[in-house]
Amino acid sequence: MKESKEESTAPNKDLANNFTSIPSIEDYNDSEYHSLFHKLTERIKELNCLYGITKLVESSLSPEEMISGAIKLIPTAWQYPEITCTRIKLKNQIFTTENFKKTKWKQTETILVEGQPYGKIEVFYLEEKPECDEGPFLQEERYLIHAIAERLGHIIELKLADNRLKSLYHSEKELRQKLQEEIQNKVEFTRRLIHELKTPLTSLMATSQLLSEELKGKKRLGKLSGYVWDNTCRMNNRIDELHDMIKGEISKLELDLRPLDLKKLLSSTAAEAKTAALQCDMKLELTMDGLMPKVYADAARAKQIVLNLLNNAFKYASNSGKVTIKTKSNDDYITVEIQDRGPGIKPEEQQRIFEPYYRSPHKAKQSHGLGIGLALCKVLVEAHGGRIWVTSKPGKGSVFAFTLQKFNVKKHQKPRQ
Ligand SMILES: Nc1ncnc2c1ncn2[C@@H]1O[C@H](COP(=O)(O)OP(=O)(O)O)[C@@H](O)[C@H]1O
Ligand SMILES: [Mg+2]
Repeated sequence: MKESKEESTAPNKDLANNFTSIPSIEDYNDSEYHSLFHKLTERIKELNCLYGITKLVESSLSPEEMISGAIKLIPTAWQYPEITCTRIKLKNQIFTTENFKKTKWKQTETILVEGQPYGKIEVFYLEEKPECDEGPFLQEERYLIHAIAERLGHIIELKLADNRLKSLYHSEKELRQKLQEEIQNKVEFTRRLIHELKTPLTSLMATSQLLSEELKGKKRLGKLSGYVWDNTCRMNNRIDELHDMIKGEISKLELDLRPLDLKKLLSSTAAEAKTAALQCDMKLELTMDGLMPKVYADAARAKQIVLNLLNNAFKYASNSGKVTIKTKSNDDYITVEIQDRGPGIKPEEQQRIFEPYYRSPHKAKQSHGLGIGLALCKVLVEAHGGRIWVTSKPGKGSVFAFTLQKFNVKKHQKPRQ
C-alpha cells in the first residue's frame, strides 16, 4: 500500500516542478499582460472559427449550405470582425457576406481541388487598420485562411466525387431502362412475328394432314403430301423452339414440374427417335440402372431436351455407328448422357455451342439449323435447376450430359392447404 502511494505522488511532484517554470501573471507588466490577453483572445476566435467550419463539414448540409455557413464564420475570427467581410469565389458560384464590399485591404487564399485552383477565399477590411504582419492582417490569420481553404477544397472534392458517382449511377440507370425497353420491343416484335407465322401454319398443318389422309392410297401424291406434312411439322417445331428460347431468355418459361419416371420417359423417347436414327444409318442404344428414383421434372420438356440432343447426334455424327443414352445416379441428381462417335467439337467451341444462334462455322455449311437447339436445352435444364455440359475430343465423338433433380418429398411436395 505504501509503495503505491509513493508511486502516485511522484508524478505530481514532477508536474509541480514543471509549473514553476511557467511565468505567472505577476511576471508581466500591464502592457505585456494586455498584449498576451489580446493574442490569446485572437487564437480562441480562430480556433472557434475552425471548429465551427469542421462542425459544418461533419453535418448533413449540402456543400452550398456549408459554404454559406462558413462565410458567416470567417469574419468572426479576424482581428476586427465588425469591419470584416468575406467573399468565396468558386468556378461557378460566388458567396459573400451581407456587408460585402471590395477594398484595398484584403487577404486571399486559393482553394485547391485535386491539386488544381478551383476558387478563392477573400477577406476584406472595410476600413484602414494599423500595419501588422501582412498589411493590416496577422500571420495567424494567414495560417487560418489557409486552413479554411484546405477544408473547403476537401468538401468540394467530396462533392465532385459524389456528383460523378451520381451521374454514373444515372447514366447506368438510363442505359438499363433503354436496354429493358429494347428487350421489350424485341419480345413484342417476336411475339407478333410468331403469331403471324403460326396462324397460316396451323391451317397449313391441318390441310396437309387432311390431304395426306385423303391421298393415302395414291403412291406419288401420297408421298408428296407426306413431305408437305413433315415439313410443315418441322417448321412448326422450329417456331415453337424459337418461342421457348425467347420465353426462357425473359424468364417466362413455365414448367409443369411433377415426380417423373425418367426410365419410362427415356425408353419411349428412344423408341420414338429410332426411325430418325435409322434414317442417318445409326443405331440407338439405351443403358440404364436397374432401379432409378423419380426425378422432379416437366415430362414434355425433359423429352424435348433428350430429342434435341439425339437429333444433334444423328445430324452431326451421322454414319458413325451408334448413339448411346446412359444414366448415372448421384446424390441429388440423375445425370443423363448422350454419347456419339462423330467428329467431336473443338475445345474452344465447347462453351460457345450453348450460346443462342451459335453454329460451328464449318458444320453450318453442311447442315441446316438456327443454332438454338443447345441454347434451348440449356434454358430448359437450368429452369429445372440442373446443369448441361459437353465433353468431347475432336475425331473421337462427344458426350452431352445434363442433370435433373431427384424427386424429394420434403423439398418438392407442396404442403396441402
Ligand atoms: N453431337 C454433336 N457433334 C458435333 N457437333 C455438335 C453436336 N451437337 C451440336 N454440335 C455443334 O453445336 C452447334 C449448335 O447446335 P444447336 O444449338 O443444336 O444448333 P443447330 O443444330 O441448329 O446448329 C451445331 O451447329 C454444331 O456445330
Ligand atoms: Mg440442333
